[in-house]
Amino acid sequence: MALLFASTADDPELWRRELGRRLPGLEIRVHPEIGDPADIDLALVWLPPPGLLASLPNLKAILSLGAGVDAMLDDPTLPADLPLCRLVDPSLTATMSEYVLLHVLKYHRMQDLFARDQRERRWQLRLPAPASSTRVGILGLGVLGTDAARVLAGHGFSLRGWSRSQKQLDGVACFAGPAQLPAFLAQTDILVCLLPLTAETTGILDRDLFARLPKGARLVHVGRGAQLVEEDLLDALDRGQLGGATVDVFVQEPLPPEHPFWAHPAIDITPHAASYSDPAVGADVIAENIRRFFDGRPLQHVVDRARGY
Ligand code: NAP
Ligand code: GLV
Repeated sequence: MALLFASTADDPELWRRELGRRLPGLEIRVHPEIGDPADIDLALVWLPPPGLLASLPNLKAILSLGAGVDAMLDDPTLPADLPLCRLVDPSLTATMSEYVLLHVLKYHRMQDLFARDQRERRWQLRLPAPASSTRVGILGLGVLGTDAARVLAGHGFSLRGWSRSQKQLDGVACFAGPAQLPAFLAQTDILVCLLPLTAETTGILDRDLFARLPKGARLVHVGRGAQLVEEDLLDALDRGQLGGATVDVFVQEPLPPEHPFWAHPAIDITPHAASYSDPAVGADVIAENIRRFFDGRPLQHVVDRARGY
């Protein structure tokens, strides 16, 4: 009975300490020191090497260290019949909302334009309109999109959101499904993408979608790299259809040094760093699922594999 920890982005010792406090008897093995693969019941993973999970003959459940599980679902060897749980963690949610607020405020307060003025030694007073006249549209009204909307509402922004199923959220004009996407986009000055990567959302941020936004709209992209058609973003910025973009996720990560986004004056990039899970908080959620597993109770946040998220 052991849990395998495998992540290139998370500190195994912090997680071992926090999980050990909550589940003192739990044996944790850190990849690649697996020992006998037959001992592993549970895997706690972020971007595990393809094939790793299939190589564990007694694996019974997979717990993700990330909210998005697209990379795991992309592994054709992923055991088909095991529950796969995504991470729903208050610290991950809070840091994402912080990131979204930071960059929405950047555009609302025209800090991107002030930065350009400074580079060009131009003293130009620019006064923002009230937040209530800046229309923020959030693609994806799940755990993260809903919290981002709540935080932005606290700053007075005018909010709308788009999801697959119809929602009702206080203070957010809710749109659903492909038929309502154009109406949502037509009234969005700052577009925030918080969609999971699925067959339907791959390439969704493309030339056609940008054309439906008001001219000069800004993009804050924190979903997944493959949702953005990168050349279409460059083209939309060159034509002034978009006025700026903040991008945290990329088709290829790490972003190659020769990639045009690095030096583009209207693109701010961060290295897939928009949000992160604090083990001192996230371990509560993971430990609860591990307890449920050992007690034979239903696991939380199980991914619907047919839906893809
Ligand atoms: P979630 O709770 O599963 O919410 C997903 C939302 O997207 C739901 O509202 C869902 O609609 C909507 N959606 C899915 N497919 C859609 C479609 N085809 N058309 C319209 N709406 C669609 O996920 P979450 O926890 O908020 O996370 C969202 C994503 O954020 C993750 O999957 C991941 O890719 C990304 N993420 C990025 C970072 C980062 O650091 N950059 C960190 C964490 C997560 P319904 O509500 O109708 O199902
Ligand atoms: C990070 O990208 C996550 O999905 O949690």
